Amino acid sequence: MRKELSLRTPDDWHVHLRDGDLLTVVAPATAAQFARAIVMPNLRPPISSVAAAAAYRQRILQALPSGSGFEPLMTAYLTDNIAPAEIERGFVERVWTAAKLYPAGATTNSDAGVTAIDRIEPVLAVMERIGMPLLIHGEVTDPEIDIFDREAVFIERVLEPLLGRHPGLKVVLEHITTSDAADFVRSGPPTLAATITPHHLHINRNALFAGGLRPDFYCLPVAKRELHRLALRAAATSGNPRYFLGTDSAPHSRAAKESACGCAGIFNAPFAIESYVEVFDQENALERLEGFASEFGPRFYGLPLNQGRITLVREPQPVPALVEGPANDQALVPFHAGTTLNWQLVRRQTG
Ligand code: DOR
Ligand code: ZN
Repeated sequence: MRKELSLRTPDDWHVHLRDGDLLTVVAPATAAQFARAIVMPNLRPPISSVAAAAAYRQRILQALPSGSGFEPLMTAYLTDNIAPAEIERGFVERVWTAAKLYPAGATTNSDAGVTAIDRIEPVLAVMERIGMPLLIHGEVTDPEIDIFDREAVFIERVLEPLLGRHPGLKVVLEHITTSDAADFVRSGPPTLAATITPHHLHINRNALFAGGLRPDFYCLPVAKRELHRLALRAAATSGNPRYFLGTDSAPHSRAAKESACGCAGIFNAPFAIESYVEVFDQENALERLEGFASEFGPRFYGLPLNQGRITLVREPQPVPALVEGPANDQALVPFHAGTTLNWQLVRRQTG
């Protein structure tokens, strides 16, 4: 049985680092595991200008211990009114790496998102021309559509036609949760890829109701049936470069999650790589982890691979019930809280 694992340092291609006090708690957790991360722009107000993205990037760097070497990759929050010229300037000036499409109302802080895809056609045309990736929260918001079907319906109603209109546009379908999405990406054009979270590889929708209502397992897109979880595990461990790592770590305080209208989001940053290793180990696919975690993402984005390496050892890793938050009443529940993982990250080498 394998006892040690050395990997090219991984990147997180989808994370929420928040802002203010919470940023100072969660950004170091991501920087301790990953060399780079695609940082989501769904702040209040959203990051929809080049200036806002540059300032947010500085706040992230200031929240990190010196010498962390971590590189935040910024994203633009698309709105109905964002100017194509602003998108292009931010990309050309290397302030943002990609742009995020939130259908308005689909998730946390998405009310300023796009109300109808045709509103941003000129922006998509620019992105296609300049090679800027479009990152998609792929759920329809139509209240008539069952919440468990929203991803599959988005693919049919929005994504497939969009790929037809913009054959050169690089698209990442974020945090996929269904076999429909995994199949669509597998058989789609090479300009299409998907990120997969650790939680969607570990839990199915039963976890939300195991012995009572379990807000720590609530996120969007919501976890689906077991058959979908198994399809995601097969996709992630298949070695297909169109699927890569994106944690969607999305911290909310325990109080905000355990309330009458609890927030969506799972905070998996502190043990993210261990969580993925667990899945690849269970699937006898440890040799395919490095591609998923450290190679397929940068290749899709056209960025260099990291030169550093990390080491994991097969040692019990107890996960605490709570992680300290920025204030007494703002503790965070990490994913896998109160359980023991089988692997530990031991050394992080930059380079
Ligand atoms: O569960 C989620 N939380 N899904 C999202 O799309 C947003 C995120 C957040 O920002 O809390
Ligand atoms: Zn997200």
